[in-house]
Amino acid sequence: MTKLHREDLLEQLEEKYKNIDQKTNTHLEGLVWSKPITYWDYIQTDALLNLQIQRTTLPDEMVFIMYHQVNELIFKMILWEMDQLCHTDKPEPTYFTEKLMRISRYFDMLTTSFDIMGDGMSINQYMKFRNTLTPASGFQSAQYRLIEFSSTDLINLIDHRFRANIDRNTPYSHAFEHLYWQAAGKDHATGKKSFLLLEFERKYKAEFLRHMEEYNTINIWQKFKQLPENDQKNPELIIAMRHFDHTVNITWVMGHLNAARKYIGDGDATGGSDWKKYMHPKYQRRIFFPELWSQEELDNWGEEK
Ligand code: HEM
Repeated sequence: MTKLHREDLLEQLEEKYKNIDQKTNTHLEGLVWSKPITYWDYIQTDALLNLQIQRTTLPDEMVFIMYHQVNELIFKMILWEMDQLCHTDKPEPTYFTEKLMRISRYFDMLTTSFDIMGDGMSINQYMKFRNTLTPASGFQSAQYRLIEFSSTDLINLIDHRFRANIDRNTPYSHAFEHLYWQAAGKDHATGKKSFLLLEFERKYKAEFLRHMEEYNTINIWQKFKQLPENDQKNPELIIAMRHFDHTVNITWVMGHLNAARKYIGDGDATGGSDWKKYMHPKYQRRIFFPELWSQEELDNWGEEK
């Protein structure tokens, strides 16, 4: 890019401020007194590094808190990319593939980092500090749910037992009650919602319903189906779609389950779910893009090798 001359810069500033009824001179004078930016002000390091507050005296609790915070930051980066892709009118297959691979790389990172978490804390300390976080659970990560709503049609997130009675005309609030993850928050026998689930809904249900509606026609699967037929056959794009589905719904889920197996063993989860069954990809069979997998691949979804 060629360097702009000072007159051109001034002209552009005049134009910019004229458009918002502002005086250019006032803004230029403001620049005379403005503070030069530093790294720590720009990145907000002081704020960021003050968000790690332990509830116990056990040092490994810090690992647990910070690792979750890192996950939430990466979830935010994923949603940032999804928002751009899903709000692009008629995305080119190259752009679509690039965005999807970037999103997948974030998830790949979260998956491999579960290895760090696997040996990151002493089980002994975990068994003590987990009591202070009960009944909270990663289950209550709202961003994780938003990622799912942005990825696929709602029907693919509905508990398999109820899919036959739900379609695109079902009201969002009804579909919401039958999302696969409701199973983790309900008593099987009575259907009564747990405190964990009630609190989660109290805080986020309205936002979830809004997001479900917004992404009904612009989630990643819909964006793919809206591409011209030829673009839907683009091999790189298909690889990227499958990779994303696999890394979110099998690799991450298995990394997560293995961490839970190591730390909880035969015990109860802080959120109180029937976690050994619930968290296995074979049980949930959560698949964002079922049409991109062969019958055999679908039949063996989540089989542990
Ligand atoms: C040692 C580390 C971890 C353990 C032992 C663990 C354990 C569990 C358990 C047992 C559940 C089932 C729900 C319940 O609590 O009853 C769960 C759900 C969940 N956890 Fe974790 N977790 C760990 C780390 C993480 C991290 C780092 C994240 C990232 C934010 C996370 C996100 C989630 C999510 C999104 C769910 C709901 C999954 C679903 O509905 O399929 N967990 N976790």
